[in-house]
Amino acid sequence: MNKAVYTRDVPEDRFEAIGFLLQEAGKRPIKLMVVGSTDSGKTTLLTFLMNELISEGLRVAVVDSDVGQKSILPPATISLGIPVGPLSSLSELEGVLHYFIGTTAPGQYAGEMALGVARLVDVASKTADVTLIDTTGFVSGVGLEMKRLKVELVRPDFLILLEREGELELLARAVGHLTRVIRLSVSDKARRYSLEERREVRREKWRRYFEDSSLLEVDLRRIAPTGTSMFQGRELREEEKLLLSEVFDWIIFAGWKSDRYVVVKADASESRFLRRHRLQAIDFEKLSNLLVGFVNAEGFCEGLGILKWLRFREMKAEVLTPLSEEELENVVELRFGRIRVLESGEELGLLRREEL
Ligand SMILES: Nc1ncnc2c1ncn2[C@@H]1O[C@H](COP(=O)(O)OP(=O)(O)OP(=O)(O)O)[C@@H](O)[C@H]1O
Ligand SMILES: [Mg+2]
Repeated sequence: MNKAVYTRDVPEDRFEAIGFLLQEAGKRPIKLMVVGSTDSGKTTLLTFLMNELISEGLRVAVVDSDVGQKSILPPATISLGIPVGPLSSLSELEGVLHYFIGTTAPGQYAGEMALGVARLVDVASKTADVTLIDTTGFVSGVGLEMKRLKVELVRPDFLILLEREGELELLARAVGHLTRVIRLSVSDKARRYSLEERREVRREKWRRYFEDSSLLEVDLRRIAPTGTSMFQGRELREEEKLLLSEVFDWIIFAGWKSDRYVVVKADASESRFLRRHRLQAIDFEKLSNLLVGFVNAEGFCEGLGILKWLRFREMKAEVLTPLSEEELENVVELRFGRIRVLESGEELGLLRREEL
């Protein structure tokens, strides 16, 4: 199921926008970001703009940063796609470059979101006449700050706002001096999706991405585990682990000490203080079916995996992934995400950033 498809049945202001953008893109390469709340019609608008501009002979690039409801696979990343002709849906577009975010709820990943978009837009705008940027519908609270960071870093020439009732007013005021704001109406055909429908769309995407996966063994001595407090500092000595397990009544699988203690244990998670050092306790269970990203030396994501098992002593991870052994050769980092998901597409839950 695709939420957004190509249609020319759009409000009249879109056609005016196309005329204007054609003129502008004739003068220089342009970057355009689309912002609006959930189900305001961002992706439908972007698909329309993409097809119309391609039909006029322009080279278009798409940066899909809607990690909550991605069109371009894989989910939980930001992707760059370069359409060669008009498409009936953005989901048909194959991504050529990706940046790992690792969650579908990126509130705690504003930095990564802004950086990822900026890096992909940099690449895109080297060849494209028009770079179109799709964003999440997360526009209030931290979501607004995230949009502001993106605009500050990317410096889009145009920011299209799809506003229903004043929810983008402050954003427009905050970034109005950095970009040219274009306000377009929300189509009266734009319809809202329930949380269950949105989950169903994501389920299908996860399932498709992991369809032809196999279990690979990842050597964490060669590929650095990042995005987690685990593995940092020195390993705990046996007597330290024994002491902690006696004090807290835990089964401890592994532990490290840097400016704090980090342990992986079985039972209910709770962070405590120990002799002025903070003790972070990670539930072993939270690590199973955790989304991980394979990141290359350029910092881009080669693909995703689902963590099935960690063998701490041997520094090995067993990861289900569509990537081949050969494709892992370019990988330098195994980055830990914050969503647990099954290859069937079922989401098992989100984690907070500080939980790992
Ligand atoms: N002009 C239009 N004509 C017909 N349907 C539309 C139009 N604009 C939006 N819709 C419908 O409204 C729904 C939401 O649109 P869309 O998926 O483009 O929104 P979005 O802002 O990208 O949502 P999200 O926040 O999930 O990314 C879709 O079902 C889409 O087909
Ligand atoms: Mg969308």
